[in-house]
Amino acid sequence: MSNKFIWYGHATLGLETGGYKLVIDPFFDGNPAASTTHEAVDPDFILVSHGHGDHVGDTAAIARRTGALIITNAEISGWCGHLGLKTHAQHIGGGYKHPFGYLKFTIAVHGSKLPDGADGGNPAGFLLTTNDGKKIYMAQDTGLFSEMELIGNEGVDLAILPIGDNYTMGPDDALRAVKMIRSKTVVPIHYNTFEVIQQDPDAWAERVNKETDTKAVVLKPGESLEF
Ligand code: NI
Ligand code: MN
Repeated sequence: MSNKFIWYGHATLGLETGGYKLVIDPFFDGNPAASTTHEAVDPDFILVSHGHGDHVGDTAAIARRTGALIITNAEISGWCGHLGLKTHAQHIGGGYKHPFGYLKFTIAVHGSKLPDGADGGNPAGFLLTTNDGKKIYMAQDTGLFSEMELIGNEGVDLAILPIGDNYTMGPDDALRAVKMIRSKTVVPIHYNTFEVIQQDPDAWAERVNKETDTKAVVLKPGESLEF
């Protein structure tokens, strides 16, 4: 069984695992970095980390077309429920065995207000254990926090970390995060979408590869990685 990770640009991620397709924080429409459109993805599940527009994105349009189950926190779940969408609510620290694997919500240090001003609860990251035992940690939008060490203790194969600065961790804190998480591989996200989050991912990857045992892989939007 193979696991495929896809970076669609910004914090929009795809996962293919055990025959299931997931899209995480599906921001295609209005995303200057998006490698494709929301009409082109066909997920079974949609994960939403927090309420900001660049993460909720095209969730409703995709879910209406595909019937995908939306997995998010209780507040965003309620908001999606009012739109008539199918949801599964989880919350920070809680895990659940979905058909695609065991998904646990982790803390994220960030905000979560929804585009219409509604309360989006607390922002989250995701720690997924696939059915073949691979662990992927998708931090999504967050600042550095020391509990990343605890997430690392679970034995992470692939970590997805923001490096853009301004709204999330920048390159220096993301490097410190890599040292705490100690994953086999790390992929940087949430950079170069907008003017205020311009970064040099190759320079960052070079620092990771020099200073840690983790292998940094820089993808272009639309590129993927097997893990
Ligand atoms: Ni955000
Ligand atoms: Mn964001």
